[in-house]
Amino acid sequence: MRIDILTLFPDMFTSFLEGSLLGTARANGLIDVRLTNIRDFATGVHRQVDDRPFGGGPGMLLMPGPVVECVESVQRAAAAPGHLVMLTPGGRRLDQKAVEELASKERIVLLCGRYEGFDERVRETLQPDEISIGDYVLSGGEVAAMVIVDAVARLVQGVIGDAESARQDSFSGAERLVEGPQYTRPREFRGLQVPEVLLSGDHQRIAAWRHEQAVDATRRRTNPTQNQRSVS
Ligand code: 6GU
Repeated sequence: MRIDILTLFPDMFTSFLEGSLLGTARANGLIDVRLTNIRDFATGVHRQVDDRPFGGGPGMLLMPGPVVECVESVQRAAAAPGHLVMLTPGGRRLDQKAVEELASKERIVLLCGRYEGFDERVRETLQPDEISIGDYVLSGGEVAAMVIVDAVARLVQGVIGDAESARQDSFSGAERLVEGPQYTRPREFRGLQVPEVLLSGDHQRIAAWRHEQAVDATRRRTNPTQNQRSVS
């Protein structure tokens, strides 16, 4: 899979991309990540990429010229154009289903904004898939792009050693349950015991218990009132 990242701050990605999982996946040729600096497509002596909004208001907007030129140049740089994602707090909310969708593409292009956002004509011209990672404001799309790269890479065949592990992850599978509790050694920690069923060796019972725990954990998360303890 090829992932292009378009940003004004490519340096933010260097150590992230060298990290163990992604670094190995890249070294093994499983994912090909390319960084492009939007500023390389700015014109004029000042290489300006942002300007004040018409009509007034706070902050600076990314100018359409450098952004659109950058995307078009990157799209031309490979045989097939990639699925264009614009990182913006107003986009559709990222969830595991959206991650699976993105992971199914041959190539994705992640466009990171900074400042107060993009000039509207960037959207009109490029008609990107707009994605947000949650209802809070980040200072730019870079961290959101890293979230997408991380979540998508785990689903690319061969990136995770144990394919079963990705399938069993929270939010995966038909029911999209979160994972229930898990235990390792020791059997007792500060008086807290590992549930007996996990030591039983009865795989059917273990699977049933885990499913039940996952359903519980999912219900508590979706319906937090069931999770409140009395403080009296
Ligand atoms: Cl994709 N960008 C920014 N700037 N803020 C966000 C976001 C993206 N997703 C949530 N907050």
